[in-house]
Amino acid sequence: MLWGRLDEAAWPTKISNIDTKRAIAERLAERARDGDVIGIGSGSTSYLALMALRDRIKSEGLRVICIPTSHEIETYCAVMGLEVTTLVASRPDWCFDGADEVDPDHNMIKGRGGAFLREQLVFAAAAQRVILVDKSKFVEQLGLTHDLPLGVVPEAVELVHDRLVSELGTAPTVRSAGGKDGGVITEQGHLIMDLALDGSLSASDLERLLLTTPGIAATGLFVGYEFEIIS
Ligand code: 5RP
Repeated sequence: MLWGRLDEAAWPTKISNIDTKRAIAERLAERARDGDVIGIGSGSTSYLALMALRDRIKSEGLRVICIPTSHEIETYCAVMGLEVTTLVASRPDWCFDGADEVDPDHNMIKGRGGAFLREQLVFAAAAQRVILVDKSKFVEQLGLTHDLPLGVVPEAVELVHDRLVSELGTAPTVRSAGGKDGGVITEQGHLIMDLALDGSLSASDLERLLLTTPGIAATGLFVGYEFEIIS
């Protein structure tokens, strides 16, 4: 089996705040109903929630169909023997995902793992949404603990840099895989650029600027969605 037994130890890094995340995952799994199509988020909290969901599906014989938000979660679903579909064939009745930051207006920064484009597609497509966050994710203003990831068409890196410096006075930086490995590439082939936020623009004005900047294909900024929080 690709990743051996799919338990907590299979997650590639040490999971922070794991006791809280485990409790959140258990509460999330209680929501599943027979026949649900569920969007499955990415990140460690979503992984724990997927394991809890798998346990319910297997023990109660539920029929649940998953729409994953990343190759990684897609493969975990397959290894767990869960049924998977796509947004081409179906729509989620509900979805769950983690977040890096949530502000008081429920705007979010997501995508630390680089899966933000598919995460945004599944989130937008879902009839109901649940965000799974421990208390460390709540911020007064976006950008306080995480930069905002941007998915940038590789040949537009300089164009995007120059436009954001001119509009915001802040230079985004290409996220490096370290050493000789070069820039981090998303599943869709975009380079990730990280943008530090200073709160000078509202989340919706910032989103408008970014999505009208040629070369920015996606961002980890989630604005204007309604969702429930389990924390
Ligand atoms: C991945 C994400 C994650 O949901 C976010 O980074 C939170 O991760 P974790 O649950 O590991 O704290 O947006 O793209």
